[in-house]
Amino acid sequence: MNSNKDSINTIQSIDDLIVALSEGERTNFFNILNSLAIPSTAFESFGSWSSYFYTRNCIIDNEDFELILLCWEKGQLTPIHDHGGEECWVKVITGEFKETIYKKNISGEMLVIDSAVAKQNDVTYMIDFMGYHRLENVSNQRSMSLHLYAKPIRNCNLFDENSGEIINKVLKYHTIASK
Ligand code: SIN
Repeated sequence: MNSNKDSINTIQSIDDLIVALSEGERTNFFNILNSLAIPSTAFESFGSWSSYFYTRNCIIDNEDFELILLCWEKGQLTPIHDHGGEECWVKVITGEFKETIYKKNISGEMLVIDSAVAKQNDVTYMIDFMGYHRLENVSNQRSMSLHLYAKPIRNCNLFDENSGEIINKVLKYHTIASK
């Protein structure tokens, strides 16, 4: 593939996407994800499904970035969480996701400060100074989203809605693609 910045809309396969991210700068990651021309069916072999929780499926994980496919049954959602100090880009592969952004006020209460629905092919961005967030599959069907973290996120902080406490969690994969 040609990884020239002008030709990023020629990325038509997951292998080419990995090359583009490996050769690219973080400042270009939004543009790379925004201009993918990869059919959603190309992601299906990386997916796995659970009726209990959304699944985290690793496509590639190296010292610079992590590319994972999240597979969501209807109504599944994340806890309210941060991103362990790293940058996070999300591309909707299929379905629709509601993103709610939260910030703690001086009394420690977690308040909603924004929410929006991302549709197929939309790309969103998050970093910790923007707040905590939650994603929810609000479509009527199974949905997939592609998450790019740079650098990889090994731990993040979750807001426990019952106790009001922040809990540090080690993040795991449900599947890991063979290289
Ligand atoms: C996750 O990686 O499990 C949460 C999704 C996200 O915040 O991008």
